Amino acid sequence: MNHQLSDLTAEELRSFVAEQLGRSRGRTVQLTDAVDTDDLVRQHSRLMSPLVWDYAHIGNQEELWLVRDVGGREPVRQDIDELYDAFMHARADRPSLPLLGPTETRDYVVEVRDKVLDVLDHVKFSGGRELVDNAFAFGMIVQHEQQHDETMLATHQLRTGAPVLDAPAPPAGRRLARSEVLVPGGVFEMGTSIEPWALDNERPAHAVHVAPYLIDTAPVSNGDYLKFVTGGGYQDAQWWSEAGWAHVQKASLVAPRFWELVDGNWLRTRFGHRELLPLDEPVMHVCFYEAEAYARWTGKRLPTEEEWEMAARFDPATGRTRRFPWGDESPGPQHANLGQRHLRPAPIGAYPAGASPLGVEQLIGDVWEWTSSDFKPYPGFRAFPYDEYSLVFFGSDYKMLRGGSFGTDEVVARGTFRNWDYPIRRQIFAGFRCARDPRPEELT
Ligand code: AVJ
Ligand code: FE
Repeated sequence: MNHQLSDLTAEELRSFVAEQLGRSRGRTVQLTDAVDTDDLVRQHSRLMSPLVWDYAHIGNQEELWLVRDVGGREPVRQDIDELYDAFMHARADRPSLPLLGPTETRDYVVEVRDKVLDVLDHVKFSGGRELVDNAFAFGMIVQHEQQHDETMLATHQLRTGAPVLDAPAPPAGRRLARSEVLVPGGVFEMGTSIEPWALDNERPAHAVHVAPYLIDTAPVSNGDYLKFVTGGGYQDAQWWSEAGWAHVQKASLVAPRFWELVDGNWLRTRFGHRELLPLDEPVMHVCFYEAEAYARWTGKRLPTEEEWEMAARFDPATGRTRRFPWGDESPGPQHANLGQRHLRPAPIGAYPAGASPLGVEQLIGDVWEWTSSDFKPYPGFRAFPYDEYSLVFFGSDYKMLRGGSFGTDEVVARGTFRNWDYPIRRQIFAGFRCARDPRPEELT
């Protein structure tokens, strides 16, 4: 969250960790208490686990790492490890497992948390154990819970029935002076070796050379994307990659997920509310192939992951890579739409205080942004503390997403944070922005 964690006294670090643990648990409880027990155990989509699986999996990971590994304590429930191992059972199969019921699950996560708070009271952060340096394992578990909370929020979006979640509307948008900016390129430092809670795939910091490029100052809006939809974009192979065209036909895609045309009006459904499509909001619930096709239709392309991170972190005035587009300060409500504070992306232009030095906005929060890059390790990558967080996913099956969404907590939404998913996935809170190569006359 803060690269100054090492300046804290052990007592300050302990209370910081306790506060983060409490905040993530508050969100988990809110997301699971919002629905009845039938909704908790039901599978709302084959793409998702029943909410009660995520809930107990959160507790089980916390038990594995903090009670058993860091704390060296006796297991709470060793018998359930296999049920909640994400690699043992595909999401589609999880509802038929003998899962803990809602009451058992709640009792289990409370029992684990009580033990963890006791471990936290006694742990020595300076014992030379990499896992507890700067309370890393606690930070990893807090982020794990927040990541599953975002997944549960996506499950909420897929559930049918009356709305159960609510939040105030985001700030108003405004018109941006420019639609794209030139990033001069050059060498910049990507990734991090100093963020104490950065996960293995964000490390280490390394120099990357990037050629000059232009990048949009805002994510693509619903209004802009609608022109592609109504202009026949989904019916014309020339905009799509080969794999994208095969998918759009096989899956019969005609518009972003949760959009529908009713009596000549485009509507979208958002956590159970059916409303007129807001034209000034970033487009969301599009897959990588749709993002790629739209970009080609406008004569542009998706940014690479390197280009995205350079736009978000590089300050051309000093040559320094910073934590966030606006500087080194942790995100506040004035900078970015994060943490489920609002239940939707904010309109384009809603966060002038979150702009990068070159005037690129809404890079952090609102919607995850698809990039054109595959999931690759940085040079010098070392899997830590387990291969199944990142290592087993490297390769060309996944595309990278950056920046976080309105449902991403600030403890996760670092400028260096890397997310990935299959190029066909649409249930995540993902949109995109476009980039392009400069024309020769634009370089002078
Ligand atoms: C980084 C979001 C792709 O949800 O699959 C959760 C995070 N890893 N439990 C996922 C994660 C293990 C992961 N993503
Ligand atoms: Fe997990």
